[in-house]
Amino acid sequence: MKGKFITFEGCEGVGKSRQLAMFGEYLEKNGIAHYFTREPGGEPVSEKIRNIILDKENESMTDECEAMLYAASRVQLLKRIIKPKLESGTLVVCDRYFDSSFAYQAYARGLGKEFIAKINDYAIKNFTPDYTIFLNLSPEQAFKRKGGVDKGDRLELSGMEFHNKVYQGYLEIAKENPERVICIDASGEKWETHEKIIKALKERGVI
Ligand code: TYD
Repeated sequence: MKGKFITFEGCEGVGKSRQLAMFGEYLEKNGIAHYFTREPGGEPVSEKIRNIILDKENESMTDECEAMLYAASRVQLLKRIIKPKLESGTLVVCDRYFDSSFAYQAYARGLGKEFIAKINDYAIKNFTPDYTIFLNLSPEQAFKRKGGVDKGDRLELSGMEFHNKVYQGYLEIAKENPERVICIDASGEKWETHEKIIKALKERGVI
């Protein structure tokens, strides 16, 4: 592949959208050809799958079905958009990718690494990003920064338990893939995090 493939990962509320926007502005300003996309979605069929996954009415969806829909959305986006863009030499930046399936479905939902690895191998031959920016901020820190959760609210607490598992999953993924996953401390100001991302990608010759 001629272009580089970069993914952004992290728990909810860590400022991923903001950092993606700032990174996009940087690439624009510096005349670096790029294409931004997101998961689940990013392509007409994948966006329809996204609507099914995120539809609150689909409460009865099993974890296995959800995991396979993520993989289906992924292979569609990969074959129709990501690979052609990479072949044309464009830097592709994806908001979430298979690490999200490991953190959310394998670790937090408890489906296990083997199951997720198997379906992703089947769907996308585990097509791996060149680098993954992991915005490292614990759910507690993220919620505190957002104004805090009501500690008395049971629902919020069970939510926190899930998000903590997602976070532990990400830490595990980062430990297992030290060459690919770039851990960025996201506890500081927006511009500080942005500068860390730029520095890390410059050091690796991506930008
Ligand atoms: P989205 O609204 O795009 O959230 P965010 O801004 O946090 O990226 O919703 C995506 C949700 O899908 C998010 O909660 C993470 C989840 N997800 C998985 O559980 N598994 C996956 O493989 C992917 C790609 C996303």
